[in-house]
Amino acid sequence: MAAWSWLLLLCFTVATAGVLQVRAQPDSNGFISIDCGLPGKTGFVDDKSKLSFVPDDGFTDGGACRNISAEYITPGLGKRYHTLRSFPDGVRNCYTLRSLVSGLKYLLRASFLYGNYDGLNKLPVFDLHVGVNYWTMVNITGPDDAVIVEAIVVVPEDFVQVCLVNTGAGTPFISSLDLRPLKNTLYPQANATQGLVLLGRLNFGPTDYTDIIRYPDDPHDRIWFPWVDSTNWNKISTAKKVQNLDNDMYETPTAVMQTAITPRNASTNIEFSWGPVPLPNDPTPGYIAIFHFSELQLLPGNAVREFYINLNGKPWFLTAFKPEYLYSDATFNRNPYPGYSRYNISINATVNSMLPPLINAVEVFSVISTATIGTDLQDVSAIMAIKEKYQVKKNWMGDPCVPKMLAWDKLTCSYAISSPARITSINLSSSGLSGEISSSFGNLEALQNLDLSNNNLAGPIPDALSQLPSLTVLDLTGNQLSGSIPSGLLKRIQDGSLNLRYANNPNLCANGNSCQPAKKKSKVAIYIVVPVVLVVVIISVATLLCCLLRRTKQASMNNSLKPQNETAINVPSNSGYRHSSSLRLENRRFTYNELEKITNNFQRVLGRGGFGYVYDGFLEDGTQVAVKLRSESSSQGPKEFLAEAQILTRIHHKNLVSMIGYCKDGEYMALVYEYMSEGTLQEHIAGKNNNGRYLTWRERLRIALESAQGLEYLHNGCNPPLIHRDVKATNILLNTRLEAKIADFGLSKTFNYNNDTHVSTNTLVGTPGYVDPEYQATMQPTTKSDVYSFGVVLLELVTGKPAILCDPQPISIIQWARQRLARGNMEGVVDAHMHSDHDVNGVWKVADIALKCTMQASAQRPTMTEVVAQLQECLELEDRHSAMNDTNNNFYAGNNIDTNSSYNMYNIDQSTDVIQSSTTFEIEHNFGRVPTMAIGPAAR
Ligand SMILES: *[C@@H]1O[C@H](CO)[C@@H](O)[C@H](O)[C@H]1NC(C)=O
Ligand SMILES: *[C@@H]1O[C@H](CO)[C@@H](O)[C@H](O)[C@H]1NC(C)=O
Ligand SMILES: *[C@@H]1O[C@H](CO)[C@@H](O)[C@H](O)[C@H]1NC(C)=O
Ligand SMILES: *[C@@H]1O[C@H](CO)[C@@H](O)[C@H](O)[C@H]1NC(C)=O
Ligand SMILES: *[C@@H]1O[C@H](CO)[C@@H](O)[C@H](O)[C@H]1NC(C)=O
Ligand SMILES: *[C@@H]1O[C@H](CO)[C@@H](O)[C@H](O)[C@H]1NC(C)=O
Repeated sequence: MAAWSWLLLLCFTVATAGVLQVRAQPDSNGFISIDCGLPGKTGFVDDKSKLSFVPDDGFTDGGACRNISAEYITPGLGKRYHTLRSFPDGVRNCYTLRSLVSGLKYLLRASFLYGNYDGLNKLPVFDLHVGVNYWTMVNITGPDDAVIVEAIVVVPEDFVQVCLVNTGAGTPFISSLDLRPLKNTLYPQANATQGLVLLGRLNFGPTDYTDIIRYPDDPHDRIWFPWVDSTNWNKISTAKKVQNLDNDMYETPTAVMQTAITPRNASTNIEFSWGPVPLPNDPTPGYIAIFHFSELQLLPGNAVREFYINLNGKPWFLTAFKPEYLYSDATFNRNPYPGYSRYNISINATVNSMLPPLINAVEVFSVISTATIGTDLQDVSAIMAIKEKYQVKKNWMGDPCVPKMLAWDKLTCSYAISSPARITSINLSSSGLSGEISSSFGNLEALQNLDLSNNNLAGPIPDALSQLPSLTVLDLTGNQLSGSIPSGLLKRIQDGSLNLRYANNPNLCANGNSCQPAKKKSKVAIYIVVPVVLVVVIISVATLLCCLLRRTKQASMNNSLKPQNETAINVPSNSGYRHSSSLRLENRRFTYNELEKITNNFQRVLGRGGFGYVYDGFLEDGTQVAVKLRSESSSQGPKEFLAEAQILTRIHHKNLVSMIGYCKDGEYMALVYEYMSEGTLQEHIAGKNNNGRYLTWRERLRIALESAQGLEYLHNGCNPPLIHRDVKATNILLNTRLEAKIADFGLSKTFNYNNDTHVSTNTLVGTPGYVDPEYQATMQPTTKSDVYSFGVVLLELVTGKPAILCDPQPISIIQWARQRLARGNMEGVVDAHMHSDHDVNGVWKVADIALKCTMQASAQRPTMTEVVAQLQECLELEDRHSAMNDTNNNFYAGNNIDTNSSYNMYNIDQSTDVIQSSTTFEIEHNFGRVPTMAIGPAAR
């Protein structure tokens, strides 16, 4: 019985100089041989194998080149072991091998010789992945042990990645990496979902340990280590060629098959064994063994050599094996033999056999699953190109999304069971990106969110981004972009499918001002551009003056409903998207006469605001519109009128009421809006609309979220940003589908984003009950003033009460709700008209958001972005609640929570400490279904 160690995998290949230039691609055999950590771009030819080794430059972009300690450099040590690459940074670092054929089978081999390169004399243990699948654990057992690991896998793509994963047990490193193509018919146990990991590949019969067989003797460059044991075994060999059978599944090289062993004592068996190498998830992995046999002796006429192969005392294969003379054959199992603590192999002759058993070679493999697929290929190549272009480092190594725990920072992915992961969001805000926006972003088809804000991106915005079907938020704020917003994106903004933010791009012409298509500006161009711009301005002013002089005359002369071509002060013309060079809108200009027609002589009043009356109307194509006509006595003068018109021409968001056209006809001024059939939110809360039907909680939540999104867009998506200054339930309008849109921009003020988040103004505007006390005190509105007013709207939605209610004295809804909530009295606050058809936890959460929005100090209020995110969560919570509601009654959470703490958070004296410490609303999933919250009403 001879047991031996499979760890005896030292490599003694001598390699010396010979120089060649690197090509980071397979050689004529399809081989890639990388000497990791070899500096420069010059490789060498291995003296013995004549294989060309290349440095790892271009295969990986992490790690550092290191030399092993001089004491470990022995004359026999292959040159590829002299250097290595170590990866002190990042959890996962990868080599990418390109120019492969997707779907083909490859042999991958990685070698590791520590050689105390770091002077620490600490042997690391780390993991190796092939692509997104676990390959093996690399356990460095001694400073001069060369650990060699090998896998046979089907490569699904035209590239494969080999990744070193730091598991916290030392810095991963690698000495060399090989790739060899195999025919797909070889090693049938390796398929698309299963790979083979080599435990050992042994050649029986050589007399010298250095007698390693590999390329060119093995055309596939497998490494066959000799097993030398002359005390137990006789060696037999031949000089004749041992042929492979047709369709040979292993193509064992003749040099390996030309030697074999038989037992020294002809009446004993051939015996050897191996112990399993435990895997992290499997202490006793199963094995696949391939036994290679060929008869090397020409037996006399009737002589027979026949034997059984037994595993742990039982026949492994039912039939006996009879090797053929000078033909290579093998016997093997297809599925791994499961979990023995030791694999004792014994080969005994059958009763018919006149000769002792023989064996030429053996290979033993464990299997790995390669069923996990990587991220969608198109996404991978796009994000790789992006990584390359911007030299993103972070942990951008290996597959972007898979495995989940190693997914790249700043990416969000979606995972499906039967299809590849997709990249859905990229946040490269403040990442120091410079240069143009890569058109590769346009290939990330599942992208929903792209945040490139606060970088140094220059040049035009690529139109390719408009082709992304799911893109809903594109944040380009704070860059050096130039040119104009491409027409494709404009269309997406207008149909409400895209929220584009582009504030703080000083060179971006976005507001329908005359602007030039983005071109490389030369001096010549500037000379031409400047006069053109001046001419345009002069013409505009002249036209305007003419218009004003002609006053109503012109109106009476022009009865045509055709849009006008003239341009009023800064309001862009009606020509639609003329070309992609500037943000032009399909705003038409109406005459007063046309308005009379449209509104049937201002017959039906829809409402009344500070500006005057709003009338119902129909365009010639039947589109219903709302016409807001400024009255003589209006508190809003022409200035506000123009302000609103200007604002409306440049903001486009599905949750902002959009303008169809305007009229500036003599003293008549009007704005024509899309018609919002369901009126104001205030009417709905008061039950004055909708045939007296009150809004459901879900409808309220959606309205809250949509209005918040509209406001958030004003704050973050506009260039320059806007403060609405009059957020209230009457300025939130609903369409037939009860979709909410923010209206009335007459009071909006742009604020200087660069300096601060406020603008100075000397008149306080707003509506009692909604006005931010801080704004009132300082006269300086900020975005947080809108947040405050929005908090009031949220309270109205929860309570169904107006902003100021009589209880019996006039009291602010904020105080009113705060008092009740502080006592834990949710029922006393929630609008009874919802008939308890709501998830209590969700209502608590919205009430909590409202109270945070209406904090006295603006610094303590959330931003609209935070509000949007919170409301989104609430809506999801509500959806889960609805899904549950069929089977469950209202569910109260938090019954084991200290009730005092949940009371304290709504304390009227607004203790800052308590409020700040209570900001977490953790939603847990009990049994995967039941939403619970850390803070909420106590069960009674
Ligand atoms: C490795 O050794 C070579 C030659 O001995 C030397 O030129 C090089 O600087 C060394 N590299 C490192 C990283 O120590
Ligand atoms: C690495 O190998 C050594 C020696 O065989 C063993 O003692 C140790 O447990 C192994 N480490 C791991 C993490 O398996
Ligand atoms: C690969 O082989 C395993 C084991 O024989 C089998 O279960 C699996 O279905 C095979 N996969 C494919 C894609 O053929
Ligand atoms: C061969 O093995 C048999 C059975 O184990 C034993 O009886 C015999 O003595 C051995 N012969 C020699 C020459 O060692
Ligand atoms: C394998 O052989 C060894 C030594 O002969 C023995 O101790 C062990 O029990 C055997 N293992 C199995 C699983 O049969
Ligand atoms: C060979 O070994 C197997 C398993 O131990 C045994 O069942 C069989 O009888 C043996 N054959 C001979 C001829 O000894």
